[in-house]
Amino acid sequence: MTFPDGFLWGTATAGHQVEGGNLNADIWPLEWAEETLFTEPSGDACDHYHRYPEDIATMAELGFNAYRFSLEWSRIEPEEGFFSRAALDHYRRMIGTCLEHGITPVVTYCHFTTPRWFAGEGCWHSDRAVARFARYAERATAHLGDLIPWAATLNEPNLITMLQLTGVIPVGAGERGPITEEQASVEAGVGGYDPAHYEMGLVGAGCERMGEIHRAAVEAIRSGPGDSKVGWTLALVDLQAGPDGETRLEAARQGAQLDWLDVSRDDDFVGVQTYSRNIIGPDGAIPPGEDTATTQTGWEVYPEALGHTVQLAADHAGVPVIVTENGMATDDDEARIAYTRDALRGLGRCIDDGVDVRGYMHWTLLDNFEWMSGYAKTFGLIAFDHETFERTVKPSARWLGGVARANAID
Ligand code: BGC
Repeated sequence: MTFPDGFLWGTATAGHQVEGGNLNADIWPLEWAEETLFTEPSGDACDHYHRYPEDIATMAELGFNAYRFSLEWSRIEPEEGFFSRAALDHYRRMIGTCLEHGITPVVTYCHFTTPRWFAGEGCWHSDRAVARFARYAERATAHLGDLIPWAATLNEPNLITMLQLTGVIPVGAGERGPITEEQASVEAGVGGYDPAHYEMGLVGAGCERMGEIHRAAVEAIRSGPGDSKVGWTLALVDLQAGPDGETRLEAARQGAQLDWLDVSRDDDFVGVQTYSRNIIGPDGAIPPGEDTATTQTGWEVYPEALGHTVQLAADHAGVPVIVTENGMATDDDEARIAYTRDALRGLGRCIDDGVDVRGYMHWTLLDNFEWMSGYAKTFGLIAFDHETFERTVKPSARWLGGVARANAID
């Protein structure tokens, strides 16, 4: 099974999960809070902030030709209105290193974390959010846009809605209502925000608000310099109906997927991120049964999800697709290979059926900081020693690099 010429084969990471020392991110103080939901703090993470040259060189040696990573907004704009030239230069060097190695950068402008001051203002719910994010997108693009062929504004803005509509978290969780000026200044005084507002370390708003923020950022990025193709990346679990689950399934599909894919219609591409399926009953997702094979995160091992969700996204959004995340958390690297091979077969079938898929970015490069679960969940193609940061390339990385080089799977 061969893939189209110029197909992008890469890995994906997110700044906060790999860089380390990400002190100005909203999530950092949450990780250290007394009653934290995080099993451990991100700390130095994989020190990718300093070790990216080695990591990018390794990807190129393995055979990859693309790398999806994120700019860390909280480093670039650590205080409202102050844009760090040094941080922007860092990302320019990073993009340059990709290009020197023949690796196409796919750049996410915001992968979950926001600056503390932005969280203190009310995050995505603040009336100022649209202008704030658009200004950041404009300033980052002014510095980097000429080198960015593919840009994603927001990572999984639909995640909170999806978790709510599938019954994984209660409706309202992960959201925070608008806060008053007074609250904002009190919160800013205690370090940027009140962790009590974050029920799960991640926040989001509904489709209308996130869509508005996205559109403003798309416009800012499209203004250049450069000619970036712009989209956003969506969490697309493969939703399927269980017993009596049809009504709930339709509601979840509409609210958590189709509404957001509608927004993508005006974009240059949509990023599809999928790991597994959810069987939906009348009350939401039905947990996998005892006999079902699951990953370290408790998700069903279901590689068919990739083909299904790519087809859904393409059918509904009508724009080219890039798989911006797909993978599994496991300590069984053979299982990772088997899962990925099956997922790629499904993807190949979509392409054979005429779906315009431009690339596949595996989640993830390194065994990184898996948010509230810390470092115990290993999604990486490469392991690292937490004291020396020394990398160990896993067989799955060599296998997938070989697929990338061949632009084909068996
Ligand atoms: C996120 C990643 C995360 C991965 C695995 C996606 O929802 O974009 O940041 O690590 O899933 O949970």
